[in-house]
Amino acid sequence: MSPFYFGWLRWIMVYNSSIRYIDDSLFIDGIDLASIVRQVSTPTYIYSLKRVGENYRRIREAFAPLAAQIHFSVKANGNLAILRSLSRAGAGFDCVSAGEIDRCLRAGAPAQDIVFAGVGKTRAEIAFAVSAGIGWFNVENLAELHYINSSADDLGVDAVKVALRLNPQVTANTHPYMATGHGAAKFGLTADVIRDILTRQSDYPRLSIAGIHIHIGSQLGDTAATLAALDAALDLLAAHPRIRTINLGGGLPVAYRAHDAQPSLGDLVSELIPRLAGYDVLLEPGRSIVADAGLLVAELLYVKRQAGQVFYIIDASMAELIRPALYDAHHEVAPLRKTDREPVVAQVVGPVCESADVLARDRELPALQAGDHVALMTAGAYGMSMASNYNARPRPAEVVVSESGDNWRVSRRRETFDDLAQSDK
Ligand code: LLP
Repeated sequence: MSPFYFGWLRWIMVYNSSIRYIDDSLFIDGIDLASIVRQVSTPTYIYSLKRVGENYRRIREAFAPLAAQIHFSVKANGNLAILRSLSRAGAGFDCVSAGEIDRCLRAGAPAQDIVFAGVGKTRAEIAFAVSAGIGWFNVENLAELHYINSSADDLGVDAVKVALRLNPQVTANTHPYMATGHGAAKFGLTADVIRDILTRQSDYPRLSIAGIHIHIGSQLGDTAATLAALDAALDLLAAHPRIRTINLGGGLPVAYRAHDAQPSLGDLVSELIPRLAGYDVLLEPGRSIVADAGLLVAELLYVKRQAGQVFYIIDASMAELIRPALYDAHHEVAPLRKTDREPVVAQVVGPVCESADVLARDRELPALQAGDHVALMTAGAYGMSMASNYNARPRPAEVVVSESGDNWRVSRRRETFDDLAQSDK
């Protein structure tokens, strides 16, 4: 977040190219967030399609020397307007369920541009994906290879492309819940199992085992473990020169705090270039494309002073944004209207009946009043996609601001009590 004067009149505080204060109002592109809230109420997720597109292009350009194909990781945000916009921009998609594949197909993505990952694909999901004609299966289980092969047999499909997910036994620098490449993790296959599969490819006549997949975790704090994992994969492939595709997974980090230091994309790519010469490269970024393009707007319901603390009780909770409760994750809290009231140190909490329902702890914020609105920043990734109906709370509305930045629409309406009850007779 950097404050500076623009021209001679306007005070601007910038979160990123799309989200900033103009004078005292928080804007997303050309739209004053307060004007959206007046019509849509809260809690509501709001996304900038412009910022999504910029993030996508920034990553694509950084990886251009590797001609990497980018598959947006749908688990980060499955909003159909975002999927459509990324698909139009040329992205493929990384899915972990038949439900996500279905969403991508509905968004107009060509099936060939979809990769299907996941440690526990059901046989029904495999059949669905084979019949849809998706581009790649990222396989994590020996039995899964048999299932895909027999599905392809049933459907008369040949050369189903498979990447074997290597568990490279490296520990990523991230929250333990987001590390997937260490030996004790449920993810991937060990190198010896992969070696064995590669010598017995004829057991799977309908499959084309053509790639290695590595994804060692999310929000990666440095690049050392990624490079170690890649070296393990390349080591394994030395004996299998026919395999020419490496999928590096996701994991590119974002800054949740204003001055978070980030590993440089350029440095990572420079390290990758000599290693990946001659390989087709796939990537599966999620967070880095959508996190800072979205925020969750909430209303302050009550200010409660108790036991020496100030609680800002807002109408968003761990049901709408679980990251702080689950990972102790940090999201900046920004009032929609700046005030010059004296700051206070507040606990920003939701209405849910759990002590973990704290969105921001010990945060210095301006003194706010009931009825004021705040934005939980950098909430575009793993926000709505992890939202639940806990405490019978309807899931929030989602608003997208157009790529031009000057208009917006509700892309997904707020759930209703009827939505919650209709499948529960
Ligand atoms: N590929 C695979 C195989 C993955 O498991 C993931 C994320 C990605 C790609 C995308 O990773 P990204 O670029 O977004 O880091 N709920 C957590 C994050 C869990 C990530 C799970 N897998 C959070 O809120 O931070």
